[in-house]
Amino acid sequence: MIKPFGSDKLNPLYVSDDAKREALIKEAEGLPSVVMSSAAAGNAVMLGSGYFNPLTGYMNLADSKSVAEKMQTTSGLLWPAPIVNVLKDVSAIKGAKRIALRDPNVEGNPVLAIQDVEAIEEASADDMKMITEKVFLTTDENHPGVAAFNSVGNFFVSGPIQVLSYSYFKTDFPETFNTAVELRDHIEKHGWKEVCAFQTRNPMHRAHEELVKMAMKEYNADGAIIHMLLGKLKPGDIPADVRDAAIRKMAELYFEPNSLEISGYGFDMLYAGPREAVLHAIFRQNMGATVLIVGRDHAGVGDYYGGFDAQAIFDEVPEGALDIKIFKGDHTVWCKKCKNVVMMRDCPHGKDDYIMLSGTKVREMLAAGQELPPEFSHPEVAHILMGYYKNSD
Ligand code: ADX
Repeated sequence: MIKPFGSDKLNPLYVSDDAKREALIKEAEGLPSVVMSSAAAGNAVMLGSGYFNPLTGYMNLADSKSVAEKMQTTSGLLWPAPIVNVLKDVSAIKGAKRIALRDPNVEGNPVLAIQDVEAIEEASADDMKMITEKVFLTTDENHPGVAAFNSVGNFFVSGPIQVLSYSYFKTDFPETFNTAVELRDHIEKHGWKEVCAFQTRNPMHRAHEELVKMAMKEYNADGAIIHMLLGKLKPGDIPADVRDAAIRKMAELYFEPNSLEISGYGFDMLYAGPREAVLHAIFRQNMGATVLIVGRDHAGVGDYYGGFDAQAIFDEVPEGALDIKIFKGDHTVWCKKCKNVVMMRDCPHGKDDYIMLSGTKVREMLAAGQELPPEFSHPEVAHILMGYYKNSD
């Protein structure tokens, strides 16, 4: 089995011992507390799940700046984006050494984690701008990740955490939400050696399906994990339960039985393109995958990133820092002559023979009430998606 990222043993921060967790939940009721941002809650769930191994909590300002500037922490660990607990108002926790972090996404704001506060630092406007620019490659407030990052405040509360719940992910997606520990167990149970991970925030269309099949073939993989984002997305993106149903239908009908694990993780989309791709590689290694599929405009939004920037960034990753391999997929299109989905680089035909397949295009067609053509989506998958759009009118 591939080693976790940055350590020999995975160290998930969720307190799995029931009695210990109950005692901490009780303790938390007596601690100074704050309701954290959705992004910070997602970070806690990822830390709890073991995906952000070997981090032990939230980064301080020096690490956040170092990560933004150099893609490494002050101690030299490869890391592409700050993992932070940033707040607007810290008056309730001033001077406190140990605090309870409340979940903004669950009714009643139950405690999600306990944090030992090492520092509360106020980032300057210049710090915020530099971090934004380096991580998102833009400071445009129309970028959904930039808007989210700059809306939560500028007080960085750093220090280790103990995670006490998986927020709404475990309850809302009991079949799909998995921790890195659980996925390592699945891989072990299947006896898989070579395992492709597929990141997605979309229902899987033919372009996605073929990309997975091509990567599996190239690496002679025993299996693949479809690993979907279950957290918050920008308006217009398809909700997780609909995506989940569409993906399960595609897996059932169009993949070899037992060759796919359908799974998801609890994190809000950053839309940080290249930097998010590196984060994706880190947490897929932590869950035991040996290959991450990175295609066109991976984790991108609008026109902020070049189509293959999220592949090129891996050239900047120091040799040996990651054990997981990257399958760099070319643009997949429907070729009228091949009558199949192809990667442009593998197909002898030309632009006029291609129908471009894109998630954005599919969403636009669905929103306009149009039927999805079979080149885009299998009819059984299209049926699920069209049902969602009809009901959400
Ligand atoms: S993402 O934001 O989660 O990356 P999406 O779910 O659309 O978005 O994409 C999942 C993966 O499929 C990414 O690696 C992306 O680059 C890849 N991908 C999607 N569509 C295409 C396409 N037409 N050609 C090549 N790669 C694609």
